[in-house]
Amino acid sequence: METKWVHIKEPASVKDEELEEAVEILRSGGLVAFPTETVYGLGANALDETASVKIYAAKGRPSDNPLIAHISGIGELEPLTARVPDAGRRLAGAFWPGPLTMIFPKSIRVPYTTTGGLDTVAVRMPSDPVANRLIALAGIPIAAPSANTSGRPSPTRAEHVWEDMNGKIEMILDGGPVGIGVESTIVDVSGEMPVLLRPGAVTMEMLTEVLGEVAVDPTIQGPPREGLRPKAPGMKYRHYAPRAEMTIVEGESMRVADEINRRVRESLLRGKRAGVICTDETRSLYKAGFIRSVGVRAREETIAHNLFAVLREFDELETDVIFSESFAGDHLGFAIMNRLTKAAGYRIIQV
Ligand code: TXA
Ligand code: MG
Repeated sequence: METKWVHIKEPASVKDEELEEAVEILRSGGLVAFPTETVYGLGANALDETASVKIYAAKGRPSDNPLIAHISGIGELEPLTARVPDAGRRLAGAFWPGPLTMIFPKSIRVPYTTTGGLDTVAVRMPSDPVANRLIALAGIPIAAPSANTSGRPSPTRAEHVWEDMNGKIEMILDGGPVGIGVESTIVDVSGEMPVLLRPGAVTMEMLTEVLGEVAVDPTIQGPPREGLRPKAPGMKYRHYAPRAEMTIVEGESMRVADEINRRVRESLLRGKRAGVICTDETRSLYKAGFIRSVGVRAREETIAHNLFAVLREFDELETDVIFSESFAGDHLGFAIMNRLTKAAGYRIIQV
């Protein structure tokens, strides 16, 4: 299949004509990748069983991994859900449209192919103007996982989507680089107590301010353990992963740099291609290997914004090993460290 690349001239004030063809494709059961404020999504009609099956095929994704249904306005929520709990209403009021996904008991309208066989449905209302207008014009909820091949880092630019999806989907809407760079926060509001299933730009601190208490799914914190199943099925797969073996080094910054420099030298001597993930503040401390700053440590939103692009670049450079600095684990840092530790397969050393 030929994949059409459509460049949106001014994403902030996208014109309906620019989205017309994408809307046609979605309505007739095809696949369109589109920008959101978090990462690029791979969209299809969430109410059409065969359309969501095409998403799994294009991504090479296991079909027990449910999709998020994207809506453009609050009136589109109720038809998808059996019930909207009070916590869901409050979070929607505070953070929608925005980088927050919530899990609700599903209505009978939502097919099990979209929910991976679950009786719950994930719903998100993106704030990105292209995403939001596209969904509104299509007039249907849009199922959209991140638009990467299953297991690769999520795409934060149209070029990343092209790398993974060229020839497999009808269209890519190019709205330029996304703003946030890590996937949405997921909160399960279907039970007694709201539970965080995936950290994101709507932080734990922001959630607890609205809800009081929020539990954290234990599988977010560490390596998959026997008998412990993540509530978000997608979190069990080795995600966000670069092809290289990655190690995170934690400690005081000079000692971290010394240790990383030592390990890079050792890797180079063994004929391996080594990469370093550092920050603007520490870049000058590194001597050898492919050295990439992921952003400004003092402004963690820059780290979130660049992280997946840097991981993809290391794939292109065919690095065998990557050594990364570590980040603080609160606020947006919780999401950054969650993606980073997963990419590293939980290989963390302290110095
Ligand atoms: O920021 C985002 O959320 C992006 C953009 C495109 O909106 N989408 C995204 O989708 O990250 P995806 O499919 O890559 O990740 C969705 C996660 C998966 O881990 C999946 O298992 C979980 O949400 N999920 C979906 N439905 C669920 C449900 N009913 N119960 C628990 N987890 C669910
Ligand atoms: Mg994904």
